[in-house]
Amino acid sequence: MQDETVPGPHTAHAIALTGISKMYGLVTALHPTDLSVDMGEFLTLLGPSGSGKTTLLNLIAGAIGPTTGTIFLDGRDITQMPPRERGIGMVFQNYALMPHMTVFDNVAYPLRARRQPASTIRAKVAEALERVGLRGFEDRKPRQLSGGQQQRVGIARCIVYSPSIIMMDEPLGALDKNLREQMQSEIKRLHRELGTTIIYVTHDQEEALNMSDRICLMSAGQITQLGTPDELYFQPRDRFVAEFIGESNLISGRMNSNGQLVIAGNRSIPVPAGGWTEGAELLVMVRPERVRICDIDEPVKEGSNVLSGEIGTTSFVGGMTRVTIQTEIGLNMTAKMVSGRAASRPQAGARVRVCWSSSDMVVLET
Ligand SMILES: Nc1ncnc2c1ncn2[C@@H]1O[C@H](COP(=O)(O)OP(=O)(O)OP(=O)(O)O)[C@@H](O)[C@H]1O
Ligand SMILES: [Mg+2]
Repeated sequence: MQDETVPGPHTAHAIALTGISKMYGLVTALHPTDLSVDMGEFLTLLGPSGSGKTTLLNLIAGAIGPTTGTIFLDGRDITQMPPRERGIGMVFQNYALMPHMTVFDNVAYPLRARRQPASTIRAKVAEALERVGLRGFEDRKPRQLSGGQQQRVGIARCIVYSPSIIMMDEPLGALDKNLREQMQSEIKRLHRELGTTIIYVTHDQEEALNMSDRICLMSAGQITQLGTPDELYFQPRDRFVAEFIGESNLISGRMNSNGQLVIAGNRSIPVPAGGWTEGAELLVMVRPERVRICDIDEPVKEGSNVLSGEIGTTSFVGGMTRVTIQTEIGLNMTAKMVSGRAASRPQAGARVRVCWSSSDMVVLET
């Protein structure tokens, strides 16, 4: 039986990497990595600076050669194939437009390089500019465009020759928040319309959650967790994933003979079932939006974990309010709630209780 999780030339993946790695002298930019990308998938490489995202992208594009491993494109070994022949489109953070050329000529460039006839070029450039909302900008030079418009030209130049795979390295990194969000929707729409496989790089976790079919979270030249946005957010594998994606409250303890977790202050709390043996050291996580702040005398629901404490800080950031609570057992918790008006928000120093449901706790690998 073939194991679906092992990438290889026999599976219908757009891209399959087996044992791919990159060393620069003694520096390991990428440890041996297996990764496959499905046809039409939107896969995001997410991770902190220096985690190997660009290295992985450059290996697939052929801009750099691997130290070990094999790269398959549509089941064909392309490890030694020159970049130009791979038919992979690239969109860069700095747009990489040619400043002296018009928008039309920039977008036409890949078609001219492929020696397409003038009538085809005119039609395809018009279609690509239409798709990115830039009809009428044909004669402008890049410097006569805003950042967002320049990036659209970069995208048009990439989609104009219909590559089967498009890779984007931090394409929205230079844009402000509102424009970023608008361009995120546009790139998602293009992905739906074109059905192209996209490999997208960002270090912005919200962007990754919003855009991807799957996220490949990287750290120190390795894949830490690969999964859907839901899986990474709700079932983070370990502390790194839990802390990189969203915010988290981490609680450590040791299992007792009653199947409960003994945490700071000798308090025992129930944990999700998992066959934990007595004495096992566990690290559990609960997301701040699952932590509720209640009045000190409010009755507590069955199955809830409750700690008394005092409000530390309250930060009002628009739609959400973030509150820290110093609990009686010395554990600091964070809660997030939909914002109310100032008078109804928790006040620093107030005595409260925090509660959360056992079913909202995730046990992390340590
Ligand atoms: N040409 C090179 N020579 C030596 N080391 C390199 C080279 N290129 C990359 N590295 C190292 O490889 C590691 C991974 O780099 P990479 O550019 O892939 O990171 P990244 O995840 O894209 O980071 P960023 O978010 O900052 O763009 C880093 O430690 C980097 O210093
Ligand atoms: Mg990079």
